[in-house]
Amino acid sequence: MPARLVVLVSGTGTNLQALLDASTDPAYGATVVAVGADRVGTPAVRRAREAGVPVFELPLAQGADRAEWDAELADRVSSFDPDLVVLAGFMKLTGPAFLARFGGRTINTHPALSPSFPGMHGPQDALAYGVKVTGATLFVVDEGVDTGPILAQTPVRVLDDDTSESLHERIKAAEQEMLVATVGRIARHGFTVNGRRVTIA
Ligand code: GRF
Repeated sequence: MPARLVVLVSGTGTNLQALLDASTDPAYGATVVAVGADRVGTPAVRRAREAGVPVFELPLAQGADRAEWDAELADRVSSFDPDLVVLAGFMKLTGPAFLARFGGRTINTHPALSPSFPGMHGPQDALAYGVKVTGATLFVVDEGVDTGPILAQTPVRVLDDDTSESLHERIKAAEQEMLVATVGRIARHGFTVNGRRVTIA
């Protein structure tokens, strides 16, 4: 049986699309069983619908209780019985209730080489700092912001005439390749975390 993926999204869903495309091959070892979004009407959710994948949209209303939202998110995800939860451009932090149920099997992708430039503006921060190489990082989610044990990283060269948009576009291309390859390996072989070090069997 292929590993069951629930993918959480907020935006354009190009990382999601890469997973949807990869999982059409039975040898890939994983299938997207549901997509959840923290916003209504995202392009990512449209992509899921087009692929015939069940979706749920769970925005966090202004002034709403964050812990309740987090618990509801965990319930919705749980109803699809995932082996692995993939945060693919999901712009919210998962909280204690979520991690109590899905910690150790929730992974996230970040458009910078951790531990540099955590947070919402990885490409922009890397460009502003003047680094010559940045990239993307796939990690096991913990309580911090982009701090969890690292599953994979991929480098991307910064060009002299880059804007944060052009840089982010190249990072996303490398990020998708890394995400697809690594999720497939995890689905087929599993992974172990030993302190900060992760091994994919
Ligand atoms: C990715 O670069 C992700 O790492 C970042 O936002 C982007 C999401 O892109 N947090 P998409 O929604 O998968 O197209």
